[in-house]
Amino acid sequence: MSWKGLLLAGGTGSRLEPLTKAVNKHLLPIYDKPMIYYPLTTLMLGGIKDVVVVSSPDALPQLEKCLGDGATWGMHFEYVEQPEPRGIADAFIVAEKQLAGHSVALILGDNIFHGSGLRLLVQEAMRDHSGAQIFGYGVTDPSAFGVVELDREGKPVSLEEKPTDSRSNLAVPGLYFYDEKVCEIAKALTPSGRGELEITDVNRAYMSERELSVTEMGRGIAWLDGGTPESMFDAAQYVHVMQARTGIRIAVPEELAFHLGFIDNTQFARLTASGPKTSYERYLASLA
Ligand code: DAU
Repeated sequence: MSWKGLLLAGGTGSRLEPLTKAVNKHLLPIYDKPMIYYPLTTLMLGGIKDVVVVSSPDALPQLEKCLGDGATWGMHFEYVEQPEPRGIADAFIVAEKQLAGHSVALILGDNIFHGSGLRLLVQEAMRDHSGAQIFGYGVTDPSAFGVVELDREGKPVSLEEKPTDSRSNLAVPGLYFYDEKVCEIAKALTPSGRGELEITDVNRAYMSERELSVTEMGRGIAWLDGGTPESMFDAAQYVHVMQARTGIRIAVPEELAFHLGFIDNTQFARLTASGPKTSYERYLASLA
């Protein structure tokens, strides 16, 4: 069984209007890169080279222009239309053909993860091809997220989507790992009160079969998102501060592709062969 990444970049982006009137949310900048580079590189950390990008019909060509077919990064991208923003779990239905026979690593296109333990965390989650694996992340206000409650042994006992009175402070970040049953599970869902096929209902289906495991993301990992002007600004500041201090850039697909062996020396050198003109290219050239 092999893994495919599922990168979600649809939705309306209504919380970012008017920024998203003409531009898909996931193409907006988080400091010096398009938002989508951040979740994409998180998938890459797990060694995932095959990624299905799901988005609305009007945004898909822009995303394709931004990411290409993946070949220069030693990857392979497929693009699938989601005709209507019917919810996160709808992605498994529209991309069913592309995902058939694979385990699926789903990441939401506005979720940003960073930290030294991230690679190990993703790799650990991908070791098991049965059931589902999600994460819990302690936050002060979980009401804007999926929320998971664990028993003393760390087993999930309840899952709620955006509860007003949450049973725990553990939010569920937008990074999920599923076995090949996930498309069938999504197809059996009915829309929630807000009219969406909820990812929380997919997770609940696994939980009721005792096939859901939850790992707490420790302090060493930063989890940010770009869903609102405030959170996008916070994420940009985080990236700026970290990069300025260390000189190391966050979420550079070219660098990661080289580092992880998706491309070799010659292919990497080719990326800056025409002479570095931008500061991004100069950064790549400095690595070569
Ligand atoms: O950020 C983590 C949270 O993401 C989870 O804790 C929640 O359980 C989950 O429902 C989700 O909540 P949001 O309210 O943040 O979801 P949002 O509608 O903003 O969509 C998240 C991403 O998925 C965003 O990048 C757009 C994409 N999306 C969303 C919908 C509804 C699609 O591609 N298609 C869709 O139909």
